[in-house]
Amino acid sequence: MSALSPALQARLATPLQIGNLKVNSRVLQSPLSGVTDMVFRRLVRRYAPDSMMYTEMVNATGLHYVRDLPKIMEVDPNERPISIQLFDCRPDFLAEAAQKAVAEGADTVDINMGCPVNKITKNGGGSSLLREPATAEAIVRAVVQAVPVPVTVKTRIGWTENEINILEFAQRMQDAGAQMITVHGRTRAQGYNGPAKWEWIRQVKAALAIPVIANGDIFSVEAAVSCLEQTGADGVMCSRGTMGYPFLVGEIDYFLKTGDRKPVPTVIERLECAREHLQALWEYKGDRGVRQARKHMTWYAKGFPGAADLRGQLCLIENVQQGLDLIDQVIAKLLDQPEESELSEEIALPAGV
Ligand SMILES: Cc1cc2nc3c(=O)[nH]c(=O)nc-3n(C[C@H](O)[C@H](O)[C@H](O)COP(=O)(O)O)c2cc1C
Repeated sequence: MSALSPALQARLATPLQIGNLKVNSRVLQSPLSGVTDMVFRRLVRRYAPDSMMYTEMVNATGLHYVRDLPKIMEVDPNERPISIQLFDCRPDFLAEAAQKAVAEGADTVDINMGCPVNKITKNGGGSSLLREPATAEAIVRAVVQAVPVPVTVKTRIGWTENEINILEFAQRMQDAGAQMITVHGRTRAQGYNGPAKWEWIRQVKAALAIPVIANGDIFSVEAAVSCLEQTGADGVMCSRGTMGYPFLVGEIDYFLKTGDRKPVPTVIERLECAREHLQALWEYKGDRGVRQARKHMTWYAKGFPGAADLRGQLCLIENVQQGLDLIDQVIAKLLDQPEESELSEEIALPAGV
Protein backbone atom coordinates (compact mmCIF):
# COMPACT_ATOMS: atom_id res chain seq x y z
CA MET A 1 0.00 0.00 0.00
CA SER A 2 1.44 3.38 -0.99
CA ALA A 3 1.89 5.65 1.97
CA LEU A 4 0.81 9.21 1.71
CA SER A 5 3.94 11.34 1.90
CA PRO A 6 3.69 14.42 4.11
CA ALA A 7 4.63 16.52 1.07
CA LEU A 8 1.73 15.15 -1.00
CA GLN A 9 -0.69 15.47 1.91
CA ALA A 10 0.32 19.10 2.41
CA ARG A 11 0.04 19.87 -1.31
CA LEU A 12 -3.49 18.49 -1.41
CA ALA A 13 -4.69 19.85 1.93
CA THR A 14 -6.19 23.02 0.49
CA PRO A 15 -9.43 23.02 -1.52
CA LEU A 16 -9.31 22.61 -5.28
CA GLN A 17 -9.87 26.11 -6.62
CA ILE A 18 -11.68 26.16 -9.98
CA GLY A 19 -12.02 29.83 -10.87
CA ASN A 20 -14.22 31.23 -8.11
CA LEU A 21 -15.39 27.78 -6.99
CA LYS A 22 -13.80 25.94 -4.06
CA VAL A 23 -14.12 22.17 -4.04
CA ASN A 24 -13.16 20.32 -0.86
CA SER A 25 -11.91 17.22 -2.61
CA ARG A 26 -9.09 16.44 -5.02
CA VAL A 27 -10.89 13.40 -6.41
CA LEU A 28 -13.49 13.79 -9.14
CA GLN A 29 -16.05 11.40 -10.60
CA SER A 30 -15.74 11.54 -14.38
CA PRO A 31 -18.56 11.96 -16.85
CA LEU A 32 -19.50 8.51 -18.22
CA SER A 33 -22.12 8.34 -20.90
CA GLY A 34 -24.81 5.80 -20.00
CA VAL A 35 -23.52 5.59 -16.42
CA THR A 36 -23.29 8.86 -14.45
CA ASP A 37 -26.97 9.68 -14.24
CA MET A 38 -28.47 11.15 -11.08
CA VAL A 39 -28.97 7.72 -9.53
CA PHE A 40 -25.33 6.72 -9.94
CA ARG A 41 -24.05 10.11 -8.79
CA ARG A 42 -26.14 9.85 -5.62
CA LEU A 43 -24.42 6.56 -4.76
CA VAL A 44 -20.96 7.96 -5.44
CA ARG A 45 -21.70 11.06 -3.38
CA ARG A 46 -22.78 9.05 -0.37
CA TYR A 47 -19.14 7.98 0.02
CA ALA A 48 -17.56 11.14 -1.44
CA PRO A 49 -19.78 14.02 -0.33
CA ASP A 50 -17.28 16.75 -1.25
CA SER A 51 -16.30 15.53 -4.72
CA MET A 52 -17.14 17.11 -8.04
CA MET A 53 -19.42 14.96 -10.22
CA TYR A 54 -20.26 15.26 -13.89
CA THR A 55 -23.39 14.53 -15.85
CA GLU A 56 -23.21 12.38 -18.96
CA MET A 57 -22.21 14.44 -21.99
CA VAL A 58 -25.06 16.46 -23.49
CA ASN A 59 -25.33 17.34 -27.19
CA ALA A 60 -25.56 21.13 -27.56
CA THR A 61 -27.10 20.99 -31.05
CA GLY A 62 -29.75 18.60 -29.79
CA LEU A 63 -30.49 21.01 -26.98
CA HIS A 64 -30.92 23.90 -29.40
CA TYR A 65 -33.80 22.14 -31.15
CA VAL A 66 -35.78 20.84 -28.18
CA ARG A 67 -37.85 22.66 -25.63
CA ASP A 68 -37.55 20.25 -22.73
CA LEU A 69 -34.21 19.42 -21.18
CA PRO A 70 -33.10 15.81 -21.70
CA LYS A 71 -33.15 13.63 -18.59
CA ILE A 72 -29.34 13.27 -18.70
CA MET A 73 -29.08 16.98 -17.93
CA GLU A 74 -31.22 16.77 -14.82
CA VAL A 75 -29.51 17.81 -11.62
CA ASP A 76 -30.76 17.44 -8.06
CA PRO A 77 -30.65 20.84 -6.31
CA ASN A 78 -28.93 19.12 -3.37
CA GLU A 79 -26.10 17.61 -5.38
CA ARG A 80 -23.20 20.01 -5.28
CA PRO A 81 -20.64 20.49 -6.66
CA ILE A 82 -21.89 19.36 -10.04
CA SER A 83 -20.67 20.01 -13.56
CA ILE A 84 -22.79 19.60 -16.67
CA GLN A 85 -20.73 18.36 -19.60
CA LEU A 86 -21.54 19.48 -23.14
CA PHE A 87 -20.24 18.39 -26.53
CA ASP A 88 -20.46 19.95 -29.98
CA CYS A 89 -18.33 22.00 -32.36
CA ARG A 90 -20.49 25.13 -32.65
CA PRO A 91 -19.50 27.92 -30.28
CA ASP A 92 -22.97 29.55 -30.51
CA PHE A 93 -24.87 26.34 -29.67
CA LEU A 94 -22.45 25.54 -26.88
CA ALA A 95 -22.84 29.02 -25.38
CA GLU A 96 -26.61 28.65 -25.46
CA ALA A 97 -26.43 25.14 -23.98
CA ALA A 98 -24.11 26.40 -21.25
CA GLN A 99 -26.71 28.97 -20.21
CA LYS A 100 -29.29 26.21 -19.92
CA ALA A 101 -26.80 24.17 -17.89
CA VAL A 102 -26.32 27.02 -15.45
CA ALA A 103 -30.07 27.54 -15.18
CA GLU A 104 -30.34 23.85 -14.29
CA GLY A 105 -27.83 24.32 -11.45
CA ALA A 106 -24.39 23.55 -12.90
CA ASP A 107 -21.52 24.81 -10.75
CA THR A 108 -19.19 24.51 -13.75
CA VAL A 109 -19.69 23.80 -17.43
CA ASP A 110 -17.32 21.26 -18.94
CA ILE A 111 -16.65 20.96 -22.66
CA ASN A 112 -15.94 17.47 -23.96
CA MET A 113 -12.88 17.52 -26.23
CA GLY A 114 -11.90 13.91 -25.69
CA CYS A 115 -14.67 11.58 -26.82
CA PRO A 116 -13.22 9.14 -29.39
CA VAL A 117 -16.53 7.79 -30.73
CA ASN A 118 -16.93 8.16 -34.53
CA LYS A 119 -20.50 9.38 -34.29
CA ILE A 120 -19.25 12.37 -32.27
CA THR A 121 -15.92 13.07 -33.98
CA LYS A 122 -17.30 12.97 -37.52
CA ASN A 123 -19.55 15.87 -36.57
CA GLY A 124 -16.59 17.86 -35.27
CA GLY A 125 -17.12 17.21 -31.54
CA GLY A 126 -15.17 15.36 -28.82
CA SER A 127 -11.54 14.53 -29.54
CA SER A 128 -11.67 15.82 -33.13
CA LEU A 129 -11.32 19.30 -31.58
CA LEU A 130 -7.71 18.37 -30.78
CA ARG A 131 -7.16 18.72 -34.53
CA GLU A 132 -9.08 21.99 -34.68
CA PRO A 133 -7.54 24.05 -31.88
CA ALA A 134 -8.83 27.34 -33.31
CA THR A 135 -12.41 26.04 -33.10
CA ALA A 136 -11.76 24.68 -29.63
CA GLU A 137 -10.47 28.07 -28.57
CA ALA A 138 -13.49 29.84 -30.07
CA ILE A 139 -15.76 27.46 -28.17
CA VAL A 140 -14.11 28.19 -24.83
CA ARG A 141 -14.19 31.95 -25.46
CA ALA A 142 -17.89 31.87 -26.41
CA VAL A 143 -18.89 29.76 -23.42
CA VAL A 144 -16.81 31.81 -20.96
CA GLN A 145 -18.58 34.94 -22.21
CA ALA A 146 -22.00 33.32 -21.92
CA VAL A 147 -21.96 32.06 -18.33
CA PRO A 148 -20.90 33.30 -14.89
CA VAL A 149 -19.59 29.90 -13.71
CA PRO A 150 -16.15 28.43 -14.42
CA VAL A 151 -15.74 26.76 -17.81
CA THR A 152 -13.54 23.67 -17.93
CA VAL A 153 -12.25 21.32 -20.63
CA LYS A 154 -11.75 17.55 -20.66
CA THR A 155 -9.51 16.22 -23.37
CA ARG A 156 -6.90 13.64 -24.42
CA ILE A 157 -3.18 13.99 -25.18
CA GLY A 158 -3.63 14.03 -28.97
CA TRP A 159 -5.30 12.41 -31.96
CA THR A 160 -2.65 9.75 -32.63
CA GLU A 161 0.77 8.84 -31.29
CA ASN A 162 2.27 11.05 -34.03
CA GLU A 163 0.01 13.98 -33.29
CA ILE A 164 0.41 14.48 -29.56
CA ASN A 165 -0.31 18.19 -29.15
CA ILE A 166 -1.63 18.44 -25.61
CA LEU A 167 0.98 20.97 -24.48
CA GLU A 168 0.07 23.64 -27.07
CA PHE A 169 -3.61 22.69 -26.92
CA ALA A 170 -3.89 22.99 -23.13
CA GLN A 171 -2.09 26.33 -23.21
CA ARG A 172 -4.57 27.62 -25.78
CA MET A 173 -7.52 26.47 -23.68
CA GLN A 174 -6.08 28.31 -20.68
CA ASP A 175 -5.49 31.45 -22.75
CA ALA A 176 -9.09 31.28 -24.01
CA GLY A 177 -10.37 31.35 -20.42
CA ALA A 178 -10.73 27.71 -19.32
CA GLN A 179 -10.45 27.53 -15.52
CA MET A 180 -9.44 23.87 -15.30
CA ILE A 181 -8.38 21.13 -17.68
CA THR A 182 -8.71 17.39 -17.24
CA VAL A 183 -6.27 15.37 -19.31
CA HIS A 184 -6.97 11.73 -20.13
CA GLY A 185 -3.48 10.38 -20.82
CA ARG A 186 -4.37 8.51 -24.00
CA THR A 187 -4.61 9.49 -27.65
CA ARG A 188 -7.85 9.26 -29.57
CA ALA A 189 -6.36 6.37 -31.55
CA GLN A 190 -5.77 4.43 -28.33
CA GLY A 191 -9.42 4.49 -27.38
CA TYR A 192 -9.29 2.92 -23.95
CA ASN A 193 -6.41 0.55 -24.73
CA GLY A 194 -2.84 0.53 -23.47
CA PRO A 195 -1.69 2.37 -20.40
CA ALA A 196 -2.51 6.04 -19.90
CA LYS A 197 0.62 8.13 -20.38
CA TRP A 198 0.74 10.14 -17.19
CA GLU A 199 4.09 11.70 -18.24
CA TRP A 200 2.20 14.02 -20.60
CA ILE A 201 -0.03 15.10 -17.75
CA ARG A 202 3.06 15.98 -15.72
CA GLN A 203 4.25 18.23 -18.54
CA VAL A 204 0.86 19.93 -18.86
CA LYS A 205 0.79 20.56 -15.11
CA ALA A 206 4.29 22.04 -15.22
CA ALA A 207 3.28 24.42 -18.02
CA LEU A 208 -0.14 25.68 -16.89
CA ALA A 209 -1.36 27.99 -14.16
CA ILE A 210 -4.93 26.62 -13.97
CA PRO A 211 -5.66 23.35 -12.12
CA VAL A 212 -4.82 20.21 -14.08
CA ILE A 213 -6.69 17.00 -13.31
CA ALA A 214 -5.15 13.65 -14.19
CA ASN A 215 -7.36 10.99 -15.75
CA GLY A 216 -6.74 7.48 -17.01
CA ASP A 217 -6.16 4.20 -15.16
CA ILE A 218 -7.12 5.43 -11.68
CA PHE A 219 -8.51 2.10 -10.50
CA SER A 220 -7.34 2.15 -6.87
CA VAL A 221 -6.06 4.28 -4.00
CA GLU A 222 -2.55 3.15 -4.92
CA ALA A 223 -2.93 4.28 -8.53
CA ALA A 224 -4.30 7.65 -7.43
CA VAL A 225 -1.35 8.26 -5.11
CA SER A 226 1.21 7.21 -7.77
CA CYS A 227 -0.46 9.37 -10.36
CA LEU A 228 -0.50 12.43 -8.08
CA GLU A 229 3.16 11.84 -7.17
CA GLN A 230 4.26 11.35 -10.77
CA THR A 231 2.29 14.13 -12.41
CA GLY A 232 2.08 16.81 -9.72
CA ALA A 233 -1.56 17.16 -10.84
CA ASP A 234 -4.06 19.09 -8.73
CA GLY A 235 -6.41 16.13 -8.53
CA VAL A 236 -7.40 12.83 -10.07
CA MET A 237 -10.54 11.84 -11.92
CA CYS A 238 -11.86 8.27 -11.62
CA SER A 239 -13.71 6.69 -14.53
CA ARG A 240 -14.04 2.99 -15.38
CA GLY A 241 -12.89 2.10 -11.87
CA THR A 242 -16.21 3.36 -10.54
CA MET A 243 -18.38 1.21 -12.80
CA GLY A 244 -19.94 -1.34 -10.43
CA TYR A 245 -17.86 0.21 -7.64
CA PRO A 246 -19.26 3.61 -6.61
CA PHE A 247 -17.06 3.45 -3.49
CA LEU A 248 -13.82 4.31 -5.30
CA VAL A 249 -13.94 8.12 -5.31
CA GLY A 250 -14.76 8.09 -1.57
CA GLU A 251 -11.97 5.61 -0.79
CA ILE A 252 -9.37 7.77 -2.52
CA ASP A 253 -10.72 11.01 -1.07
CA TYR A 254 -10.64 9.55 2.45
CA PHE A 255 -7.07 8.34 2.04
CA LEU A 256 -5.86 11.67 0.67
CA LYS A 257 -7.49 13.52 3.55
CA THR A 258 -6.52 11.22 6.42
CA GLY A 259 -3.70 8.94 5.30
CA ASP A 260 -5.88 6.04 6.49
CA ARG A 261 -7.49 3.37 4.40
CA LYS A 262 -11.28 3.02 4.52
CA PRO A 263 -12.44 -0.56 5.05
CA VAL A 264 -13.32 -1.98 1.63
CA PRO A 265 -16.96 -3.01 1.26
CA THR A 266 -17.70 -6.70 1.71
CA VAL A 267 -19.20 -8.71 -1.14
CA ILE A 268 -22.57 -8.49 0.59
CA GLU A 269 -22.32 -4.71 0.91
CA ARG A 270 -21.48 -4.46 -2.79
CA LEU A 271 -24.48 -6.61 -3.68
CA GLU A 272 -26.72 -4.53 -1.44
CA CYS A 273 -25.47 -1.47 -3.28
CA ALA A 274 -26.27 -3.18 -6.62
CA ARG A 275 -29.76 -3.90 -5.34
CA GLU A 276 -30.30 -0.30 -4.33
CA HIS A 277 -28.92 0.92 -7.68
CA LEU A 278 -31.34 -1.31 -9.61
CA GLN A 279 -34.34 -0.27 -7.54
CA ALA A 280 -33.48 3.43 -7.87
CA LEU A 281 -32.92 3.21 -11.64
CA TRP A 282 -36.33 1.61 -11.99
CA GLU A 283 -37.96 4.31 -9.86
CA TYR A 284 -36.21 7.05 -11.85
CA LYS A 285 -36.57 5.74 -15.41
CA GLY A 286 -39.06 2.86 -15.31
CA ASP A 287 -38.48 -0.11 -17.64
CA ARG A 288 -35.79 1.79 -19.55
CA GLY A 289 -33.96 2.09 -16.24
CA VAL A 290 -34.14 -1.69 -15.77
CA ARG A 291 -32.66 -2.27 -19.23
CA GLN A 292 -29.88 0.22 -18.43
CA ALA A 293 -29.35 -1.47 -15.05
CA ARG A 294 -28.37 -4.79 -16.67
CA LYS A 295 -24.84 -3.62 -17.45
CA HIS A 296 -24.40 -2.03 -14.02
CA MET A 297 -25.54 -5.25 -12.35
CA THR A 298 -22.98 -7.33 -14.24
CA TRP A 299 -20.24 -4.92 -13.15
CA TYR A 300 -21.21 -5.37 -9.50
CA ALA A 301 -21.35 -9.16 -9.68
CA LYS A 302 -17.65 -9.93 -9.36
CA GLY A 303 -15.23 -11.63 -7.02
CA PHE A 304 -17.31 -14.28 -5.23
CA PRO A 305 -18.26 -17.89 -5.90
CA GLY A 306 -21.12 -18.01 -8.41
CA ALA A 307 -20.46 -14.46 -9.70
CA ALA A 308 -20.23 -15.57 -13.34
CA ASP A 309 -23.62 -17.31 -13.13
CA LEU A 310 -25.18 -14.26 -11.52
CA ARG A 311 -23.77 -12.00 -14.25
CA GLY A 312 -25.23 -14.27 -16.91
CA GLN A 313 -28.67 -14.02 -15.32
CA LEU A 314 -28.56 -10.32 -14.47
CA CYS A 315 -27.81 -9.28 -18.03
CA LEU A 316 -31.13 -10.83 -19.08
CA ILE A 317 -33.49 -9.39 -16.48
CA GLU A 318 -36.81 -8.21 -17.91
CA ASN A 319 -38.17 -6.46 -14.83
CA VAL A 320 -36.99 -5.02 -11.57
CA GLN A 321 -38.37 -7.79 -9.35
CA GLN A 322 -36.49 -10.45 -11.28
CA GLY A 323 -33.21 -8.61 -10.66
CA LEU A 324 -33.94 -7.99 -6.98
CA ASP A 325 -34.84 -11.65 -6.45
CA LEU A 326 -31.63 -12.84 -8.09
CA ILE A 327 -29.49 -10.56 -5.92
CA ASP A 328 -31.43 -11.48 -2.76
CA GLN A 329 -30.90 -15.18 -3.43
CA VAL A 330 -27.14 -14.70 -3.72
CA ILE A 331 -27.01 -12.52 -0.59
CA ALA A 332 -28.96 -15.17 1.35
CA LYS A 333 -26.56 -17.86 0.15
CA LEU A 334 -23.51 -15.83 1.12
CA LEU A 335 -24.99 -15.12 4.55
CA ASP A 336 -25.48 -18.86 4.95
CA GLN A 337 -21.84 -19.55 4.08
CA PRO A 338 -19.95 -16.64 5.61
CA GLU A 339 -16.60 -18.36 5.10
CA GLU A 340 -17.17 -18.34 1.33
CA SER A 341 -17.93 -14.67 1.24
CA GLU A 342 -14.87 -14.03 3.46
CA LEU A 343 -12.69 -16.09 1.15
CA SER A 344 -14.11 -14.34 -1.86
CA GLU A 345 -12.91 -11.00 -0.56
CA GLU A 346 -9.36 -12.19 -0.88
CA ILE A 347 -9.96 -13.04 -4.50
CA ALA A 348 -12.08 -9.98 -5.21
CA LEU A 349 -11.07 -8.36 -8.45
CA PRO A 350 -9.94 -4.76 -8.49
CA ALA A 351 -12.78 -2.37 -9.10
CA GLY A 352 -13.81 -1.78 -12.67
CA VAL A 353 -11.83 -4.61 -14.23
C1 LIG B 1 -18.67 3.87 -20.88
C2 LIG B 1 -17.87 5.14 -20.95
C3 LIG B 1 -18.50 6.35 -21.15
C4 LIG B 1 -17.79 7.54 -21.20
N1 LIG B 1 -18.45 8.72 -21.36
C5 LIG B 1 -17.76 9.90 -21.31
C6 LIG B 1 -18.44 11.15 -21.37
O1 LIG B 1 -19.68 11.23 -21.47
N2 LIG B 1 -17.68 12.28 -21.32
C7 LIG B 1 -16.32 12.24 -21.19
O2 LIG B 1 -15.66 13.29 -21.15
N3 LIG B 1 -15.65 11.07 -21.13
C8 LIG B 1 -16.35 9.91 -21.17
N4 LIG B 1 -15.68 8.72 -21.05
C9 LIG B 1 -14.22 8.73 -20.80
C10 LIG B 1 -13.90 8.69 -19.30
O3 LIG B 1 -14.46 9.78 -18.61
C11 LIG B 1 -12.38 8.65 -19.04
O4 LIG B 1 -11.79 9.78 -19.62
C12 LIG B 1 -11.71 7.38 -19.59
O5 LIG B 1 -12.49 6.24 -19.31
C13 LIG B 1 -10.29 7.20 -19.05
O6 LIG B 1 -10.24 6.95 -17.69
P1 LIG B 1 -10.08 5.41 -17.12
O7 LIG B 1 -8.85 4.82 -17.77
O8 LIG B 1 -9.89 5.62 -15.63
O9 LIG B 1 -11.32 4.70 -17.45
C14 LIG B 1 -16.36 7.52 -21.06
C15 LIG B 1 -15.73 6.28 -20.88
C16 LIG B 1 -16.45 5.11 -20.83
C17 LIG B 1 -15.72 3.81 -20.61
